[in-house]
Amino acid sequence: MDANIVILPGDGVGPEVVGAACQVLEAVAHTGGHHFHYDEHLIGGCSIDRHGTALTDDALQACQAADAVLLGAVGGPQWDNPTAAVRPEQGLLALRKGLGVFANLRPVKLYPSLLDASPLRPERLAGVDMLVLRELTGGLYFGQPRGRSQDGEHVRVIDTLEYHDYEIERIVEMAFQLARQRRNKVTSVDKANVLDSSRLWRQVTVEVHRRYSDVALEHMLVDTAAMRLVASPANFDVIVTENMFGDILTDEAAVLPGSMGLLPSASLGSGGPGLYEPIHGSAPDIAGKGIANPVGTVLSAALLLRHSLRLEKEAACIETAVEQVIASGRWTADLGGKLSTAEMTAAILAALN
Ligand code: IPM
Ligand code: MG
Repeated sequence: MDANIVILPGDGVGPEVVGAACQVLEAVAHTGGHHFHYDEHLIGGCSIDRHGTALTDDALQACQAADAVLLGAVGGPQWDNPTAAVRPEQGLLALRKGLGVFANLRPVKLYPSLLDASPLRPERLAGVDMLVLRELTGGLYFGQPRGRSQDGEHVRVIDTLEYHDYEIERIVEMAFQLARQRRNKVTSVDKANVLDSSRLWRQVTVEVHRRYSDVALEHMLVDTAAMRLVASPANFDVIVTENMFGDILTDEAAVLPGSMGLLPSASLGSGGPGLYEPIHGSAPDIAGKGIANPVGTVLSAALLLRHSLRLEKEAACIETAVEQVIASGRWTADLGGKLSTAEMTAAILAALN
């Protein structure tokens, strides 16, 4: 197969982990006789420095025309001025919106050999295997009006949590479909005791559930969900929730396996290219040191092969290789190991063959 993949390394450790994932993609292409064409663009702080904007129209158009997009991370302290008009994160949000990728899949699974790396006791972790489905193009991240204004002698700010029924319907529908391929349970997380947006979320979820009555549905308030994620994480199968709740809960869920560096994500729309990125950030404290864990991005590349290129066998091979390497105790520093990014990548490549 021939495929066009846009590569957006971004800032911080982004280029290091994306470089690792590209090596893995190339190895898989070589074995399977595929031809992947890579087109690299800037996003985030590096794009601001070069072009004055976190994502150029050129870069967005290249992404829209691609088969899939692989992204590293954006942001860093040098672009963190809270009053700056341009911010690295704007590039990521514009990309998600511009690709229409409303569904962010964040699978959380455990590696038995890493149980000690988790802050939770092993008995709490037994059976943890969940998929968080985060709505990605609505809610507080995009709602209007927003911004600061002067209100007499005070400063006033507004963010708007906005959803249309159809935005809720399509993500919840996807949650039920994904649950059917798993353990058949959906937990819809909201704050329906306080927010109107959550009351609509719950209402639409109940309506969609009529078409998926074979799937178990529970509603959970977001504060309860935050508590249950650490108290009884194995009870979750598919969690579906709005954008900001999903952002927060997935960082929390990411500590269960022992390191955020392990977790991949896929962002999908209805048709069009998917966007694949690790869930960790740009980690400026370790950027350039060659010690970042490449696994989250390598597994994101596996999701790219599965969801955008329909190369299931190749995706599964990468996941098995990663499992083997981790099981054999070869770990990067975030997991308490000694391997550099390059050594971890080499170990994964060796396990592929
Ligand atoms: C994530 C990140 C982003 C988000 C930031 C970098 C804008 O935290 O992908 O979870 O909040 O969506
Ligand atoms: Mg986040």
